[in-house]
Order: sequence, then C-alpha cells, then structure tokens
Amino acid sequence: MSSGLILGIESSCDETAAAVVERGSRTLSSVVASQIATHAVYGGVVPELASREHLRNIVPVTRAALREAGATMADLEAIAVTHGPGLAGALLVGITYAKGAAFATGKPLIAVNHLEGHIHAVLLAAGRQGTEHREQGTGIREQGTELAMPALALVVSGGHTHLYLCRPPVAGPEVGAWRYSLVGRTLDDAAGEAFDKVAKLLGLGYPGGPWIDALAQFGDAKAVPFQFARIKEKAHLTGRTPRTKAAVTAPIAELDRDFLFSFSGIKTAVLRYVEVQGMRAGCEARQRALKAMVESGRIPTWEDVRALCDQQTLDLIASFQHAVVGDLLRKTFAAAEAVDAASVLVTGGVAANRELRVRFTAEAAERAIPVAFPTLALATDNAAMIAAAGWPRFLAGAFAGWGLEADPRLALA
Ligand code: KG4
Ligand code: ZN
Repeated sequence: MSSGLILGIESSCDETAAAVVERGSRTLSSVVASQIATHAVYGGVVPELASREHLRNIVPVTRAALREAGATMADLEAIAVTHGPGLAGALLVGITYAKGAAFATGKPLIAVNHLEGHIHAVLLAAGRQGTEHREQGTGIREQGTELAMPALALVVSGGHTHLYLCRPPVAGPEVGAWRYSLVGRTLDDAAGEAFDKVAKLLGLGYPGGPWIDALAQFGDAKAVPFQFARIKEKAHLTGRTPRTKAAVTAPIAELDRDFLFSFSGIKTAVLRYVEVQGMRAGCEARQRALKAMVESGRIPTWEDVRALCDQQTLDLIASFQHAVVGDLLRKTFAAAEAVDAASVLVTGGVAANRELRVRFTAEAAERAIPVAFPTLALATDNAAMIAAAGWPRFLAGAFAGWGLEADPRLALA
C-alpha cells in the first residue's frame, strides 16, 4: 500500500517552506519560515539576502515538516519542488536541496510551477483534489464538495496578476495533467506590488498588503475616486515584453484587452494625491515612528499603525483598496462569463484581503457562480500547495530529470 505522501519544497521568493501532503488533499504539515524581518528594513525583497536566508532555513524547515507529519524521507512517494517563476538564486536553493534529497533517498523528483501551486492551494483548502477525477465539465467530487469545472483562476500576489482557465485531468493518455490557458494578466505591476508600493509611499511597513487590509476598514472608500482606464489598443497590440517582474511570464498580443490589468497608474495617482494634499511630511513621520518602534525591539501592531494615521490617510487607504479590488472583480467576472467558466478561484497573497473576499463572494452569489478561496495560511506562499500540485504529476509519472534548473520566467499554459 503506497503512502501517498509528497514532500513539497518552495523557495521562489522570500519564504522558505516545506510541507507533507497526502494524495494531494490532506495536509499533514506545512512549515513556512518567513523572511519578512530580513527584508522589511529595505522596504522590499533583496534577492541576495533571500538566497542566503533560504540556505540557512531549508534544512531545519524540511526537518520540521517531516517531524510534524510524523514521517521520514523513506515514507515519501516523491519530492516536489518549485522550479519557477521566481528569483533565480532563491529557486536554486530549493531545487538543489530537493535534487539532493531525491537522489540520496531514491525518490522521484517532481517540478512544479509556482502559479500552478497557487491554483492547487484552493483545491487543497477544500480537500477537493481527489485521485478520482471526473470528466471535464462535471466537476471534481471529493468529500462531499463539488467545485464546478472548468474554473477561472485569478492568481493575484506580489509577483502575479493573471487569469487562467483551468481544466482538470481527464481519463486517457493525458491523465494527471491539468490544463491551463491564459485569459488575462497585468501589463505592468502585480496587484500585490501596488499594495506594497503604496504602503511604502504612505510610510507603512513591508509587506504592505496586510497593513492596508487592516487599516482600510477605518476609512471612507468613496473619499478619493480612483479610476481604472480601459487598456489602450496600442499598449495591448505591441506585445512587447513589459518591464516589471509581474508581466514577464506570458505573451499579451493574443489576449482580450478587457482582461488585461495595469496597476502602475494607481500607484502614481496615490503619489500625486499625497503631494497635492501636502501629506508627504506625515508619511515620512509615520515611517520614522515605525522604524523607531522596530529598532526598540517592539513589533508594531495594526493598532500602533492606526494611531499614526490621520483620517485623510485612512480615507486614502480605503479608497485605494476599494479601487483595486473593484478592478480585479470586474475583470475576473467578465472573463469568467466570456470563457464560460463554471466557477471562480481566487488565490495568491492578495486573496487574503478581507474586502476582496467579501466583494467577490457577494458578486458570485449575484451571478450564481461558485467562488472559492484558499485558507489564509494557504493564500500566501507555502509548500503544501506545491506538494498538492505535485500529486497529479506523480500519478501521471511526470518526473523531472537531474538536469532540472531554475526558470525565473517560467510560464503556465
Ligand atoms: O503569494 P505571495 O505570498 O507571494 C508572491 O508570490 O508574490 O503574495 C505576497 C503579496 C504581497 O504583495 C502582499 O502585500 C500581498 O500578497 N498580501 C496582501 C494581503 N496579504 C498579503 N494584499 C492585500 N491584502 C492582504 N491581506
Ligand atoms: Zn506566490
């Protein structure tokens, strides 16, 4: 009798993570070592520091994941590891470790796309990924729940804002392989990147998403009417590779421009508002106060941060978040309708956002289409999602060779 256990390893950005998942649906352990404290002082992820931290953490994190799962390397079926997209040096740490462990134990190695991992976090959260996949269009039935397929997935994080149509494996020669087709994506910044940059501008901590999420509820979302313009024909048709990290993973020329995102404009609009309203000094004072707090050994709570924000700042935060969530919502549901998706999945770090969850849930109810999110722990980077995505590949015998390399720009679909 096989154990069905996959060890997942994730090191694509600033979390070193390892997890043991049984048959792609039951999480036995999920350990995440966050590097937030390392990068917070720089206001963003420093690649060299990320690699160094991964090197330091990978062995203890993996040991902890095995220990918590009550498993040894010998109990595993396979080792699944993220091979892209992400930071080259960071990815390399996880890949090298996974290769070594697989080689030493004689277990097969499975390569997982980080974005596919985020999509599988939703399936894993609901225990919906069984070994027995039904035919496309009828959904996946597992533990009494059903998630209708095909699903439109919005992967929205610090590195990505992409829409994929996802189809589960069907019986036949292709068994095991999920199929993904790109429906939309950002032309410039990722939504999470916009949260982080706006938070930095306002003198809030890094990463910014959780702070903005916590503070937005105290502001008036209608105070500043931010607008998202329709993506221009020209920007869409040139198909040139955009400059930012979010946009490198897929071509744009063949996509419907109604499903393209752009978040660099709102960041500039917030900056302009801060300048015009004379809020700059307040932002700098807030940043200094938070820095002093951290240096004195006190980790700021959201109440601390709220006390440093006047009402105008809270209104600006609420308006920014409302506009971003509204844009994600409109395009995602329009795309779901256009491609005839039977359900909507929202995943990645920004899927932890409270306003996003509330508004997507309400919109889905109105349109009578099911929507699903990962648990909060599975929304941000973790390795349980990598182990879960590795399971269908294990069943299909889709193993990676010893030549597996990091692919910082790896595309899905
Ligand atoms: O998925 P993730 O952990 O890493 C990437 O693959 O990028 O996502 C991290 C991103 C950061 O930009 C962070 O600010 C954002 O997700 N984020 C949030 C929230 N929690 C994390 N954004 C909005 N609201 C949140 N509650
Ligand atoms: Zn991620």
